[in-house]
Amino acid sequence: MAFPDHRLQRLRRTGSLRDLVAETRLHANNFVMPIFVNEALSSPRAIKSLSGIYQQSFTSLLDEIRDCVESGIKAVLLFGIPEKKDSLGSEADNPNGVIQLAIGMIKTQFPDLVVIADCCLCEYTDHGHCGVLKDGALDNDDTLSRLARIAVSYAKAGADVVAPSGMMDGMVRVIRRALDQAGYQQVSIMSYAAKYASALYGPFREAAGSGQFSGDRKHHQMAPSQSREALLEAQLDVEEGSDFLIVKPATLYLDIIRAVHDRFLVPVVAYHVSGEYAMVKAASGLELLDEAAVFEETFLAMKRAGAHLIISYYAKEMARKLK
Ligand code: PBG
Ligand code: ZN
Repeated sequence: MAFPDHRLQRLRRTGSLRDLVAETRLHANNFVMPIFVNEALSSPRAIKSLSGIYQQSFTSLLDEIRDCVESGIKAVLLFGIPEKKDSLGSEADNPNGVIQLAIGMIKTQFPDLVVIADCCLCEYTDHGHCGVLKDGALDNDDTLSRLARIAVSYAKAGADVVAPSGMMDGMVRVIRRALDQAGYQQVSIMSYAAKYASALYGPFREAAGSGQFSGDRKHHQMAPSQSREALLEAQLDVEEGSDFLIVKPATLYLDIIRAVHDRFLVPVVAYHVSGEYAMVKAASGLELLDEAAVFEETFLAMKRAGAHLIISYYAKEMARKLK
């Protein structure tokens, strides 16, 4: 193969030719929009660190959901902010808790929307950690029984998918067993299989009100140096019954997305996290780059790496642009 018989520019000559040969494309169907619901609010509250994103009240929630659906979004990921927090995160499995009520309201009006509920304790504990503490440290095994109860209560409220995000060992197994035992064999699990202890979660912690915990999450989230360990995490989660595998963050971990995609046959989900979103927003606020073009290129990179689904705070905007 050589020039001048081959000229690679020939297939790049027009927009139609470029579309025709595109190996990877974005579609609204594959985007998941994260939604924050705060039961203490009567109107939406802007999240300073996540420009354009709001904590919703129960009433504004339904307007936001309608907007998502009209933009072509097929799935939302719910995070709840309860009025009361305590050391056990008791509100998380309250049948009248913020997420349980939100799921009920959404499903009544939008039965076809896929509702994914974040299943973790950090929004519900007064200490802000992703589980229960024993002698000041996170207790993995005591946390598991809490996660099982929370997952069942979300399923009872009507969730299609529960998404355990705390990186507890064995979380998928206990959740799968608890769901099955309670009769929710059809509710799926989207586990955060490879979640790194990243510096990119800062804005989320303001959004979810889980900001002031002491220490860090390095005992349970993965070290950025690791790649083979991510495959082990993914393997255990698939064996324990996870229906999807999340890799998080996305852009700094495209190699992990590729490796997980190549080795496992369940859908791979890339979580474009709060810090990744905030960096693009901040740069575009300074008129340093074209926001829409950067997000589009970023999402294409995730797809090219093997992501089937993308969770992003830009999901609704992107879906609207793709219509
Ligand atoms: C907590 C949780 C975090 C995110 C999702 N669930 C933050 C953390 O682990 O501290 C991060 C999401 C984001 O930054 O967008 N279980
Ligand atoms: Zn958590």
